Amino acid sequence: MRIISSVAAPNIALIKYWGKRDDLLKLPINDSISITLDEKALASTTTIVLGSKLKRDTFILNGHAGPDAHITEALLLIRRRLGKRHHIIRKPILLISDNNFPTAAGIASSASGFAALAEAVASALGIRNRREISILARLGSGSASRSAFGGYVRWKMGKRKDGEDSFAVQVSPRSRWPQLADVIAISSAERKKVSSKSGMERTLKTSELCHCRQEHVQRAVEKVAGAIRRKDFRSLAYLTMRDSNAMHATMLDSWPPIIYMNDTSRAVVEAVHQYNEKAGSLRAAYTFDAGPNAHVITTRKEAGKIARMLKGIRGVRKVIVSGVGEGSKTIPTPQKTKQLIARILHK
Ligand code: DP6
Repeated sequence: MRIISSVAAPNIALIKYWGKRDDLLKLPINDSISITLDEKALASTTTIVLGSKLKRDTFILNGHAGPDAHITEALLLIRRRLGKRHHIIRKPILLISDNNFPTAAGIASSASGFAALAEAVASALGIRNRREISILARLGSGSASRSAFGGYVRWKMGKRKDGEDSFAVQVSPRSRWPQLADVIAISSAERKKVSSKSGMERTLKTSELCHCRQEHVQRAVEKVAGAIRRKDFRSLAYLTMRDSNAMHATMLDSWPPIIYMNDTSRAVVEAVHQYNEKAGSLRAAYTFDAGPNAHVITTRKEAGKIARMLKGIRGVRKVIVSGVGEGSKTIPTPQKTKQLIARILHK
């Protein structure tokens, strides 16, 4: 029996992934770039037990036992990929995973969750190659492929049908530019109405703007990668806000329209523009994933002021500040998880 625990943080995309060229393998229609967040601020902690005598896969997510279609599908794909080489992964698995932030509210819990799962599976099977870990994470959720690395990360869309060239690479380690922060304003912890998966499908099928964004987005990725290497915050901020707006425009242009941002999100947009105007330069950049919660990218120096500003906006319920993180990794299994495993297996 093997018991392995891991931790992974979500990442915040500066240039977004919104649209797949292969739905099952989660192959995207463009490259994307993100900052991996700090697991001390936001994390999924996952423990897997391989080779137990369980009769079927068993999941305990945030303390609740029950099936989960998304994880079942990811495991199917992971088994298909690794099962021939590693028989132990074929047997029923026990998976215990906890998030320390609201699930499915636009903070990518699937990114950290599947990155943590990939990390744990890889480690249990002795796989050390980060590219392979990124691919395994991608099979769960596209954006998870980026949380396998720390710092500033690019997920290459790849061209191959089998997805073997679609994985994340590090653009710059945290240590080169540790000064950035993500100040997150949570205005809703509800589950989103349209999942990323079906939202993307709808946008790709029905939005004309989506094709327009696609013509520019690859260039934006190059520019953001350059801005990261030069540590040029202003360019990064400008391109980040433009791409978030562009992606949400394609969502609104879908039919029926998909609307993730709410009044509070829009108030944050206004406030950030005002803040930058008053400062006379770009000091902060908002970006929104598939949810209403605002991520404001700024420097650590500025983060306190931004947090105070966000707390003053109507509808903001909670503010979380995260620095740049180091990517998924294995950890010793927490004591309470060991006890839970013992209870489940000896029942
Ligand atoms: C808006 O990675 O959650 O956050 O691959 O279908 O699981 P699936 O989607 P997911 O989508 C994330 C979309 C986004 C943009 C991004 O993170 O790049």
